[in-house]
Amino acid sequence: MHTYLFVLGRETHLCAAEISAVFSQSRIEAKTHILDNKYLVAKTSNRLGVHSLMEQLGGTVKIAEKINTSIKEHIEKTQPDGKIHFSLSGPNAKKRALALKKELKSDGRSVRYIEANNTATILHNNLVKREGDFTVAGDNVFVTVAIQPIEAFGKRDFEKPGADSRSGMLPPKLARMMINLTETPNDATLFDPFCGSGTLLMEALTMGYKHIVGIDLSEKAIADTGKNIHWIGEEFGLQVSGSRVFVSDVRAVSHKKIPKHSIDAIATEPYMGTPKIGRETKGQLAEEVRELADLYTNAFKTFSRVVKPGGTIIFIIPKFRHDNAWIEINCLNDIKKLGFDVVPFSEKYPSLLYWRRRQHVGREIWKFRKK
Ligand SMILES: C[S@@+](CC[C@H](N)C(=O)[O-])C[C@H]1O[C@@H](n2cnc3c(N)ncnc32)[C@H](O)[C@@H]1O
Repeated sequence: MHTYLFVLGRETHLCAAEISAVFSQSRIEAKTHILDNKYLVAKTSNRLGVHSLMEQLGGTVKIAEKINTSIKEHIEKTQPDGKIHFSLSGPNAKKRALALKKELKSDGRSVRYIEANNTATILHNNLVKREGDFTVAGDNVFVTVAIQPIEAFGKRDFEKPGADSRSGMLPPKLARMMINLTETPNDATLFDPFCGSGTLLMEALTMGYKHIVGIDLSEKAIADTGKNIHWIGEEFGLQVSGSRVFVSDVRAVSHKKIPKHSIDAIATEPYMGTPKIGRETKGQLAEEVRELADLYTNAFKTFSRVVKPGGTIIFIIPKFRHDNAWIEINCLNDIKKLGFDVVPFSEKYPSLLYWRRRQHVGREIWKFRKK
């Protein structure tokens, strides 16, 4: 039996749902539970391919494996000569680490304890390769075996040539989580009907999807998406010739351009209304909520034509913060009437919220299946 610790990003339940989706799609059998509201523990009878999992996931910060010896014994085995480098997380981490450092020193070893509060420090000190990054969680000790490729995410987020800060951009990690939540193999055709500058499509390409379709009402957005796709092809050495992007209103997509039942899955962050500053009146928000409910319902009318029966849609429905409460968009019943089922992420979580305190808009992620 192997026990792994997945250190999750900020939105614990979203990150955990992504792991479950990837496990189920890759037919990985694992018993999982959430620990301390920040880890997912997975027990498996076969070893996991941790590096390819890490490459695929957007919401996991690191993957660690349980060790069956003490940290000291593990270090002596994996760093037998030269200076020891290690870091430690978990309850009383610093105190424990300093005691361990003292012990190792008294054995005559030269030791550097690194306070690794973030992924960059672990990467820069080569702690994964050295097997020197430890986490104490529950009754067990884990050593990090894979870490999130933050540099590649950062490059895609900040260096892409076409960006539109006004209409807002999806963080690439969230885009990746949404694609994984579709549980669709990468030979499928994936559609983003509100593609903006193409964050989600770029992420799909880096995940190996070859057939992607993107539309947006804005000519600038489509020009940006085109530039970004070309850029990602060059920078990341990807084949992007199977990408199709064009200007269109989601409510009136040409049947010729996107034929009936030609789409396997949709993942999208739709238009979420005008950018919010937090001073909107309840009346203004209520008006916008009505408009967006209408837009989303009409978008789903298009989806009911273009998506294959059984196809999955991962769709963000925003909600607005007002007077410390949420103003929500009620369109679920209309969407269901169009022939879609809501697929709950778990018994407790029918949908998953992506929201930072003090943000005026929360992104509620929903999963639908076309009947
Ligand atoms: C929130 S942005 C999407 C941002 C995108 N996820 C990204 O990361 O770049 C919403 C996009 O929807 C587009 N849009 C608004 N109404 C639309 C419609 N009726 N049909 C298609 N696109 C629409 C806007 O032009 C905008 O680019």
